[in-house]
Amino acid sequence: MSPSPALASTREELADALAPVRRSAAPVALVPTMGALHDGHAALLRSARERASSGAVVASVFVNPLQFAPGEDLDRYPRTFDDDLVLCEKEGVDVVFAPSVDEVYPGGEPLVTVEPGALATELEGESRPGHFRGVLTVVAKLFGLTRPDLAFFGEKDYQQLVLVRRMSRDLCLGVDIVGVPTVREADGLALSSRNRYLDPVQREHATVLSRALRAGAARGGFGLPAVRWAAMRVLDEVPEPELELDYLAIRTPDLGEVTDLHPATPTEARILVAGRLGSTRLIDNLPITLGPDV
Ligand code: PAF
Repeated sequence: MSPSPALASTREELADALAPVRRSAAPVALVPTMGALHDGHAALLRSARERASSGAVVASVFVNPLQFAPGEDLDRYPRTFDDDLVLCEKEGVDVVFAPSVDEVYPGGEPLVTVEPGALATELEGESRPGHFRGVLTVVAKLFGLTRPDLAFFGEKDYQQLVLVRRMSRDLCLGVDIVGVPTVREADGLALSSRNRYLDPVQREHATVLSRALRAGAARGGFGLPAVRWAAMRVLDEVPEPELELDYLAIRTPDLGEVTDLHPATPTEARILVAGRLGSTRLIDNLPITLGPDV
């Protein structure tokens, strides 16, 4: 396909741009984004390029109103489309799909949406009711429009990754969901389009999230209380009101409750944190290994 990406803003243009690859047996790889692309997205695009090989990489750029609650940052969500195109071209994207809200939701909010189940009411879902319904609904639509073989999601939004994987499996969508490790600044802060909202002091405080996760992970091999204590000790360095801690959670890799820690066998788990610095809500997570609760 051509070196600079084809631009599609309607479903017909998307179908036309993908017609050559559909005639071959080569795969289509989708990287869904809301734009404001950074090095974390570049890592997704690079993985997609590698896995799609001679097939097509599609990057969608769409700020999805359905996943923002009233009062959230939909209006101020950064829009940097020209820069996004430059990054897409650099990373070898074949098609950039940037539809309007009307194109994705003709006739307004859809009547039928994807119900994400109980997990969507916990962790992120507890402070963002309806968020994952909006995410899964738009991802299902993007899958329907793009019909990808593979789709790439960052581990930074870990709950989203777990839920999209469940959706693809539970609804037999036949899309292989690939998780890509979080990209970080040199001081550990996970890259996020929302980091640009932080003022210099908040930016300094923001490293406490990844430092806490690393402190918890460093207690790998110990039980839940020891991991939690180590992470909380670091989080306490930035007390309220500077950091409003939303949650520190330790869950199984598919975000179930951790139970039955075996005395002899290390258990794979995930430590997750969310907090608000001023009006900016940040999240982060790391894989950890737990030992018995002693
Ligand atoms: O992670 C995001 O940027 C969004 O939630 C996604 C997956 C593109 C759906 O709008």
